Amino acid sequence: MCGIVGYVGKKVAQDVLVGGLRRLEYRGYDSAGIATLDDNNDAHLARAVGKISSLSAVLEKEPQTGHLGIGHTRWATHGGVTETNAHPHHVGNVYLVHNGIIENYKELKAELQKTYTFASDTDTEVLAALIDSNYTKDSSLKDAVAKALKRVRGTYGIAVFSPKEPGTIVVARLGSPLIIGLGKDETLIASDASALLGYTREAIYLNDGELAVCTKDGAEVYSLELKHLNSKKETIEGDLAQIQKGGYDHFLLKEIMEQATTLHNTLYGRIDPKAGKMHLGGPNLTEKEMRDIHHVVIVGCGTAYYAGLLASYYMEQLVPDLTTEVVIASEYRYRSFHLPKDSVALIVSQSGETADTLACLREIKKRGVKTLGIVNVVGSTIAREVDGGTYVHAGPEISVASTKAFTAQVVAMLLFAGMLAEYHGGDPKLVAEFTRELAILPEEIEKTLNANRETMEKLAKKYAEYDHALYLGRDTAFPIALEGALKLKEISYIHSEGYASGELKHGPIALIDNRFFEVFTILDNWLFDKACGGLHEVRARGGKTIVLTNSKADIEADDIVRIESKIELLAPILLNTLQQLFAYYVAVDRGNDVDQPRNLAKSVTVE
Ligand code: G6P
Repeated sequence: MCGIVGYVGKKVAQDVLVGGLRRLEYRGYDSAGIATLDDNNDAHLARAVGKISSLSAVLEKEPQTGHLGIGHTRWATHGGVTETNAHPHHVGNVYLVHNGIIENYKELKAELQKTYTFASDTDTEVLAALIDSNYTKDSSLKDAVAKALKRVRGTYGIAVFSPKEPGTIVVARLGSPLIIGLGKDETLIASDASALLGYTREAIYLNDGELAVCTKDGAEVYSLELKHLNSKKETIEGDLAQIQKGGYDHFLLKEIMEQATTLHNTLYGRIDPKAGKMHLGGPNLTEKEMRDIHHVVIVGCGTAYYAGLLASYYMEQLVPDLTTEVVIASEYRYRSFHLPKDSVALIVSQSGETADTLACLREIKKRGVKTLGIVNVVGSTIAREVDGGTYVHAGPEISVASTKAFTAQVVAMLLFAGMLAEYHGGDPKLVAEFTRELAILPEEIEKTLNANRETMEKLAKKYAEYDHALYLGRDTAFPIALEGALKLKEISYIHSEGYASGELKHGPIALIDNRFFEVFTILDNWLFDKACGGLHEVRARGGKTIVLTNSKADIEADDIVRIESKIELLAPILLNTLQQLFAYYVAVDRGNDVDQPRNLAKSVTVE
């Protein structure tokens, strides 16, 4: 979703800002802009609809030479995708970029319209006017920002400068991340640490309700009451190589193919195959607390939700006296839910910033229930607000469609389940079996991807022109069907639905015609015959079927992709990597923007 960058220092700000915006492209956006202040204290503004390359074309004609500036990638919420609606917004003496939503912007606008004429339809321009109206002769930009923000309802991450105070950028956050990178004679600002990589490793992560005044010499942090606060300097993790394509055509393909390596990192130091045990340090729960857990609620959105769903099947298998519930964050946050005191909540999020997931975390905490994060992005808001938890260590996921994070999330939750099992009379043999499979999962993923990459590419070509797809599976293959359908629709724009194959006769079977194809994930387990039942029903009605399976048994389908693997319990994870490849190649075949699919954002920081 929207991204913010800022720079004050000795370099030409335009270059740093455009470079930073490119790093944030992956989040999804529809327009971009920068504003800088030159050495004569004249401000310059450039904005463009579309990709950063459109903005660069504008800047090529009129380069900006100043050493201070702010930049933004916008994902439209208020008002259409137009140059006038793009950020930065300029009102009076104020230049502003903003992530988030100002909920009371209409009433503020009605009030400010007496003094200001608004050019855009955005809530952000209203905030710029509100700051400007507080920016009087006797106040500083810091005072004006603080005063204005006290009147605001909603969420924001902002960066502001004014020609009246050269050398200063004021930033603030409430519900939308802002990181201040501290370099030598330069200070950088970003909504996402990846924009700071290569410049500095030292950073201040601003907390909600904080404001900071940034100059080339560093940053001073304040509350909105302008009380000076001590800020904590932290280290930014990761390196530049992790956010580059590494020879692949797209980040998505790179992220699918590197899953063996990233999973290795997820598992590092957390399994002991010889002893048949799993261990996670992060939850930080005492033996008694582990014993007392009888109810686990798993919260997430999109792919994170499906990862939770698959993990819940494994949890039930491993922990005999555990009740699990998996919920969609955007629904749960407004439900009058009750959680027993012996619950623990797993908050699953790749970005650690998803607004609905974060809102659930806060609602759950209000009810006095312990929260554990299953998060990828280090230092993200969810990671900071949970009581404990674990980083999944999948490394930066740049492509909007989530792939390697899904695998890592399922595995991290499985590790938690394996630990719980020990305290809840779980079968040690089953824990040991899962542990054995986990230990070889990275190499099995590598083998599966390499052995089937070409097959999936060919298959994708065959099915790329269809209009609709149904993904079907039962038991642990059901969440995989949901995730497979999501992946295909996200990047190929083919209408696709995931269903439990037992539900076929209750509706979806009516859809089958020659515009549809059906993907069945069939596992070699005790439900094999029942899983094949759905396949027969579809074939009997002339459906075009693809089967992904780890079974050696005879199966009739239009196309069958069989994997050979020593993995059984975790076969859904392996088969899912094939679905990822399939969706990728279909999207490539259809000529789509694979890494930044239309209308989607990587980190959904608004409701
Ligand atoms: C967006 C992304 C999805 C992701 C979902 C949840 O919709 O495009 O890929 O699964 O948000 O994101 P999170 O960062 O909370 O896992």
